[in-house]
Amino acid sequence: MASNFYKDIDIIWGDGRAKILNNGELLSVSLDKISGSGFQSKNEYLYAKIDMQIKLVPGNSAGTVTAFYLSSKGEYHDEIDFEFLGNLSGDPYILHTNVFCQGKSKREQQFYLWFDPTADFHTYSILWNPLRIVEAFGVPFPKYQPMRLFSSLWNADNWATRGGLVKIDWSKAPFTAYYRNFNTNNACVWSHGTSSCDSNSQPFFSNTKEWMWAKFDYSSQYKLKRVQDKYMIYNYCTDPKRFPQGFPPECYLTHLP
Ligand SMILES: *[C@@H]1O[C@H](CO)[C@@H](O)[C@H](O)[C@H]1NC(C)=O
Repeated sequence: MASNFYKDIDIIWGDGRAKILNNGELLSVSLDKISGSGFQSKNEYLYAKIDMQIKLVPGNSAGTVTAFYLSSKGEYHDEIDFEFLGNLSGDPYILHTNVFCQGKSKREQQFYLWFDPTADFHTYSILWNPLRIVEAFGVPFPKYQPMRLFSSLWNADNWATRGGLVKIDWSKAPFTAYYRNFNTNNACVWSHGTSSCDSNSQPFFSNTKEWMWAKFDYSSQYKLKRVQDKYMIYNYCTDPKRFPQGFPPECYLTHLP
């Protein structure tokens, strides 16, 4: 069951440029020369599988970035980031991903998408669960701090499209992206130091919550590998310029043969 944006979302910036429509079933964010706009979830979560359907800015979206991310508060914050970097009409968007742990990032990857993200709504999911696969290798993994969902559309034409060469064409403004079917049925809401998953009927580590223990089985590893082979255009783990002292430990995790 999808939630209602009136109930679950606060519009936090953009002076009227982000709007809840259709009785709470649809949400739009927009960007013009004066400002972008954005929203956040009312709830904070500690572990979640969150789904949202998004239809990105169509046509000439060069220089715009639509971000969709989970983030905690404060200087040593955790963040799981999806950023969609716009492009000229007919040229591909880039999906830029990053993870911040305790304020440290430098974990960027970039992908082309295998579909047109502007032609229709597509479902984007963030699965954040306590399996510390990466942490086991000595890397901090977002674990302790509750995070909130954020999304926004803004001007990033100093870096987004072809490294900043292509600027926003303001004659095409306003730029608008749409959202629907925000699904937090598989999210543990965090409030006053307790989790909604932490009741007697549904213990926090209950194995009835499949998403909480989902890890990459062989078939999903295989799919991920195929996407990486065909669509990945940047990986911090293969960029020696980023890590003159050597790559971070998770880069040495073994992958499929
Ligand atoms: C935009 O299109 C150009 C030309 O196809 C491509 O090099 C670039 O990676 C695309 N995406 C972005 C966000 O720059």
